[in-house]
Amino acid sequence: MKIEKTPHIFLIGFMGVGKSTISAYLSKQIKKKEIDTDAWIAAEQKMTIPQLFEEKGEAYFRNCETELLKHLKEEKEGLLVSCGGGMAMREENVALMKESGIVVLLTAKPETIFERVRYSKNRPILNGNMNVEFIAELMEKRREKYEAAADITVKADRRTSKEICADIMEQIKEL
Ligand code: S3P
Repeated sequence: MKIEKTPHIFLIGFMGVGKSTISAYLSKQIKKKEIDTDAWIAAEQKMTIPQLFEEKGEAYFRNCETELLKHLKEEKEGLLVSCGGGMAMREENVALMKESGIVVLLTAKPETIFERVRYSKNRPILNGNMNVEFIAELMEKRREKYEAAADITVKADRRTSKEICADIMEQIKEL
């Protein structure tokens, strides 16, 4: 891997897979600062993610994601980056992540995702589509891109944050 600076660790994966939870846990363990791309974009744009989708459109939001990755590539300190679920869908984003860090894919079954997101009002992609079938279908559509982006893959179903983080660190050591 050609990374001269301390690498970032990017957590990618479907909405509700637990990226934020794992990021918070891992950040304490490995003493890396964490950043959540949705939170960063919302703060920068002074709008919530649903407002951004509504008022500026999805393409605008996706461009904000790419701009953020470009900015992170210049950042000297290695950060733990919890990515929005669509981050790995753009090839440019995947290239930027791979150039500046290690990409960790978290996976879970559609049923697990549904249980975690079913009452969320914060995910425009699932508006009006809050059911296991839609989640399974979208997950399947995205699977190839998630897998192609991942340096390592970790299952997040029915495991504690401690177990998931141990798995991540173990696999990172072997890269
Ligand atoms: C999205 C996932 C969301 C957020 C936006 C779009 C997606 O992030 O970036 O609503 O396309 O999967 P989370 O994965 O944190 O829910």
